[in-house]
Amino acid sequence: MPGPLTILHATDLHLRRHLPGSSGHAVRRSREIPPLLARLGRVVRERRPDLLVLTGDLVDVPHPFLHGRADDHPEMMAESSADYALLRRWLDGLPCPWQVVPGNHDHPDAFARAFAPGRIVERTLRGFRIVGFDDWEVDADQARRVGEPRTRFERVLADGDATPQVHLQHYLIRPRVEYRYPLMYGDAPDLAAAIERSGRVRAVLSGHWHKGEAPLTAGVTTYSVCPTFCEWPHRFRILTLGRERTEIETLALGGGDRPVRRSAVFLGLDRIVDRALPAATGTIRLDPLVGHLLRAAVADGRLPLLVFPWEPRRQGWRAAQAAADAVARSARATGTELDAAYFVVPPTLDAAGRDRLPAEGAPQADQLFPLAARELGLDLARCALAGGGDALAAAASGHGVRPFSLTDR
Ligand SMILES: [Fe+2]
Ligand SMILES: [Fe+2]
Repeated sequence: MPGPLTILHATDLHLRRHLPGSSGHAVRRSREIPPLLARLGRVVRERRPDLLVLTGDLVDVPHPFLHGRADDHPEMMAESSADYALLRRWLDGLPCPWQVVPGNHDHPDAFARAFAPGRIVERTLRGFRIVGFDDWEVDADQARRVGEPRTRFERVLADGDATPQVHLQHYLIRPRVEYRYPLMYGDAPDLAAAIERSGRVRAVLSGHWHKGEAPLTAGVTTYSVCPTFCEWPHRFRILTLGRERTEIETLALGGGDRPVRRSAVFLGLDRIVDRALPAATGTIRLDPLVGHLLRAAVADGRLPLLVFPWEPRRQGWRAAQAAADAVARSARATGTELDAAYFVVPPTLDAAGRDRLPAEGAPQADQLFPLAARELGLDLARCALAGGGDALAAAASGHGVRPFSLTDR
């Protein structure tokens, strides 16, 4: 008799610890994930789920490595592998079994290196068959279930084993969510029809869509798109699959209001590099004084945030992120880690410029400070700005953000 089976589902960690910098979206708290995982581990010990699953975007792999030739970025391969290894050690230390699938921000080789040894993609637990699918974006930015995962998908829906199933994948099959970036599998209607026709699949767990969706039930199948773990308030779900019913709790590590109103130092890129910003792949060297300033800010408990002046008509989104990552790498060379970057666009953009913005948009200078306050829980009265052009300085003073100098402690 199956169940009850309890699954703790967390998704989209976008972890960076050994990798410098952060996800291109500051709201994704890449550098805070290790301590957040320690807290999630305590939840696992209290709730004792039968299984923990992570459905992709485990590490936030930088774009030049993700989309370029791996051989060209040996340092990113080493750092990504170290971040996956960190995650693997955390998983292996849990008091329950675990299963993972990759997402579009994961690197196939680095992911395989960490997880392939001993990895289980299909198992039976408490009368349920848990099946993970490693799918990838194949048509531009859209995923499809092809190749080995497709063959396995068709097999498990039709083979001689009628054990009820749970499917794990990164992208969405249901419900249909329209967004500027593709969230759905290109073949989602086809996958949903096959799943529901089979009558074998009790739960389909996805990530990728950071807002998440309320669970949707069709026939015997419940589709759960879990909100991201990497953004406040760091949500996850616990599913309990009984003989007939599936219960889903959405929980969070953070509570209602943020308890801490943090301070930050915003680093406007203008005037802090020692030469004009080079192309995305070039080396950026921070002014040594900026290194001193960064160390002072971190010693003060401030979040060091890069403000990257971005002109989308001249530079694509991925190239801008790569350039900000290069700044983070140079900050590390001065002995500090940038917490995150905001990409600030000019107040006027034509249609071509707007087309190059990420689906999440990008702020103008006067929108930056309230946005960062909301996303990161900042107290702007305790924040400061160093560097940056006149428009940024004016926006800062308009929001009560003081200039930060080397003598400012
Ligand atoms: Fe994600
Ligand atoms: Fe994703």
